[in-house]
Amino acid sequence: MAEAPGWWRDAVIYQVYVRSFSDSDGDGLGDLGGIRSRLGYLRDLGVDGLWLTPFYPSPLVDGGYDVADPRDVDPALGSLDEFDRLVAEAHRLGLRVLVDLVPNHTSDRHPWFQAALSAEPGSPERDRYLFRDGRSGPDGSQLPPNNWQSVFGGSAWAPDERTGQWFLHLFAPEQPDLNWRNADVVADAERTLRFWLDRGVDGFRIDVAHGLIKSADLPDNPGAYSPELFGHGPEEVHSWDQPEVHDVYRRWRKVLDSYPGERMAVGEVWVRTDEATARYVRPDELHLAFNFRLLRAPWEATALRDAVTASLASMAGVGAPSSWVLSNHDAVRHRSRYGDGEIGLRRARAAALLLLALPGAAYLYQGEELGLPEVRLPDEALQDPIWLRSGRTTRGRDGCRVPLPWQGTAAPYGFSAGADSWLPMPEDWAALTVEAQTVDPGSVLELYRSALRLRREARSVSGAPRAPALFWEDSPPDCLVLHREDGLVCAVNLGSTDVPMPAGTLLLHSADPETVGTAVLPADSAAWLRRAG
Ligand code: NOJ
Repeated sequence: MAEAPGWWRDAVIYQVYVRSFSDSDGDGLGDLGGIRSRLGYLRDLGVDGLWLTPFYPSPLVDGGYDVADPRDVDPALGSLDEFDRLVAEAHRLGLRVLVDLVPNHTSDRHPWFQAALSAEPGSPERDRYLFRDGRSGPDGSQLPPNNWQSVFGGSAWAPDERTGQWFLHLFAPEQPDLNWRNADVVADAERTLRFWLDRGVDGFRIDVAHGLIKSADLPDNPGAYSPELFGHGPEEVHSWDQPEVHDVYRRWRKVLDSYPGERMAVGEVWVRTDEATARYVRPDELHLAFNFRLLRAPWEATALRDAVTASLASMAGVGAPSSWVLSNHDAVRHRSRYGDGEIGLRRARAAALLLLALPGAAYLYQGEELGLPEVRLPDEALQDPIWLRSGRTTRGRDGCRVPLPWQGTAAPYGFSAGADSWLPMPEDWAALTVEAQTVDPGSVLELYRSALRLRREARSVSGAPRAPALFWEDSPPDCLVLHREDGLVCAVNLGSTDVPMPAGTLLLHSADPETVGTAVLPADSAAWLRRAG
């Protein structure tokens, strides 16, 4: 592909949840062939690239984030040849490809973990993971080595019955944590990076980037895991965000920079402050880190503005752009987070214009361009380990992972040629399909297409992909008016009454301008306008 310097700085990347995007062989499971067949859709949508969630061989205890072999393709999803065809076709269409790297843990089926289980305490095989002896309880019973909690519920330690040791799993017990102070682990991750770089990928999304290194002696944490999703804070100071983790990214940055073209990495960094996030994107570390504060913010002007301002300020301190995201495969879809029914939809449309106006990179989650809501699945369909480990009290993340509706009027809506999809699709999604929305100029899909087209046009006018500076204008309470130095104005009304439309040439309205007119900005809507820069 032709190289634009810093292409990743303002790229719009579309997250493909591989098993739920498109199924090419009728087994109800999305696959690489399905993605390849739909690349034209992504090009026409107007994104710059796609991020593929894990497609590696996996027993699927955690949706593929339990990886049994990081350098292969799960046979149910394709093959390495199919992967190569997908990358080649994406590049032909001008789309970048990012893959997911899962360095914090493996599947318990990974040959290394199997070898560790058969090996003795103190062996080199066990040293690749975090095996420890337990502590004795007052009654002589064996207790886990420390008080750490699994993100998915319960203790972060599982017993190894044969030897009486315990092993650490910050996620499911089937996802044992690797020991990042072990040289094999360090070398193997680099091998994986090079394996996919050699196959032509443009970059990586790094899973749990803040978690690889733990406090050396694994001391008790001062508190328990907080229920905020992956919201690691001071109470878990020993398990996450250790200073030595940055050395890992400094090494990886050298690997990425040694390849032609600008290969990049974006980190999943769940830390409490913007300053802590910024440390992951210093010039010699990762390129980008998702800004989850925006994703977490309620539909309130102050909360959204503060999330934007704080991220821009802390990122500017290290010379990195912000990476905005409203939804992903771990969070309730923002259409549903912002409110039920029509109000959520109106707000999601407005939020799309805010997201895509912000300076920096943007990451879209498949289906947000269709305005998909979170689905309440029947209990028996739920697969997320959170559901089982919480004793069936927390439903988990399956509701945002339901397959995409492409066409037709009945499930599985063209997602699969077979009768079923791996997660059931709602009966009432006929109006949400790509096909239905493509013929409807007022659809969410057409709003995203228009916004992405205007964003690209603005980029081609401004030339270099440097994030334009942003200024907040005075605005009525509950409104946001941001003005970019390149002349784009984005106004969002988060209040409950109409406000006058700010000055400028109207480019795009999240509400139907034929119904609402162009002089007002109704409640829960947004508009893009142009003014002289
Ligand atoms: C973050 C991923 O996004 C999530 O889906 C997964 O469960 C955990 N990391 C563990 O890999």
